[in-house]
Amino acid sequence: MTDKLRVAVLFGGRSGEHEVSLQSAAAVLANLDRAAYEVMAIGITKEGQWWLCPPGGGPGEGPWWEGGRRVTLLPIPAEGRLYFLDEGKFGPQVDVFIPILHGPMGEDGTVQGLLELAGAAYVGAGVTGSAVGMDKDMMKKVFQAAGLPTARHMTIRRKEWEQDPEGSAAKIGATIGFPCFVKPVALGSSVGVSMVREEGELARAMELAGKYHHRILIEMSAAPCQEVECAVLGNESPKASIPGEIVPGNQFYDYRAKYIDDNSQLIIPARLSPEVEAKVKELAIRAFQAIDCMGMARVDFFVRPDGSILVNEINTIPGFTRISMYPKMWEASGIGFSSLLDRLIELALEHHREKSRSTLFYEEA
Ligand SMILES: Nc1ncnc2c1ncn2[C@@H]1O[C@H](COP(=O)(O)OP(=O)(O)O)[C@@H](O)[C@H]1O
Ligand SMILES: [Mg+2]
Repeated sequence: MTDKLRVAVLFGGRSGEHEVSLQSAAAVLANLDRAAYEVMAIGITKEGQWWLCPPGGGPGEGPWWEGGRRVTLLPIPAEGRLYFLDEGKFGPQVDVFIPILHGPMGEDGTVQGLLELAGAAYVGAGVTGSAVGMDKDMMKKVFQAAGLPTARHMTIRRKEWEQDPEGSAAKIGATIGFPCFVKPVALGSSVGVSMVREEGELARAMELAGKYHHRILIEMSAAPCQEVECAVLGNESPKASIPGEIVPGNQFYDYRAKYIDDNSQLIIPARLSPEVEAKVKELAIRAFQAIDCMGMARVDFFVRPDGSILVNEINTIPGFTRISMYPKMWEASGIGFSSLLDRLIELALEHHREKSRSTLFYEEA
């Protein structure tokens, strides 16, 4: 027997960011302290099947599910015990789940909801924070209500666009203007995001974004601007890291610039005046708290040449690859990758305890 904490890394998932998750999870698995944790790797296929990898297994070369076992979580409070489909029975308790799933069906509160129903402790934002953080429309509404500066934007439903493209284009031209950015409301890694320089390019961008979601966000371009990111860590009193900066190798920080072309520059610390840096850190924490985030988040900004700052988005499960900004910004701030994971696990247990203090049922005062 072992007195090690049993942690389970969830990776893959049913989203356009499946491949990115494999890379993130590989880095997380490589940096979890094996002396402190018994580590399980659970992959979710694009079809949604959960596979527990054989010991030491995980994403890498070749099919990671080979030699694995089909498992699931049941939506009944079972203290985070996995259910083995081959044996038809529960396995041992998983102390902390670490969802390293990017995008819909993983970062958006769906898996978090299942973890809640299963009574499990898990790293990162809960259902509300995850759902709001994933939905760019809701996220911006919450940010605005919290007094955070955002770029001018509007949303159009895919159906509305399809029924009246001319009318919708006129509305976009009048409300936002060009150049603008068109994005599916819920995704990440720039999947489905286009820069639109003039009205003639709009239809293609709307159709692309509409492939991924039934609501489409159209946003004024912040260019010229610096793209600045700041990592946040904590629960009730979150801390902000030294901000970093991205200089996209392509026209904007698109999927290719992020993962394929390897032509973007990551600069830590970001080239900001002390005043702007302090403001970015303050806004990062306020954005984190505005959506009731827990554990971790990366908050992304546009900083204009006049020093004005716009909050672009919050990522509740930021990239964790070896070259990702979230672990790199903490490293620059004095917290190495393994210590960062230790802290996230501690925070998950802490929040799990905090939640257990709330009563679920009505009690006579
Ligand atoms: N309003 C904007 N002004 C300038 N650039 C933008 C704007 N919105 C998005 N971008 C560019 O597109 C990239 C992806 O957009 P983002 O909203 O961050 O989507 P994702 O969630 O997919 O990362 C950004 O990193 C940036 O390079
Ligand atoms: Mg982004």
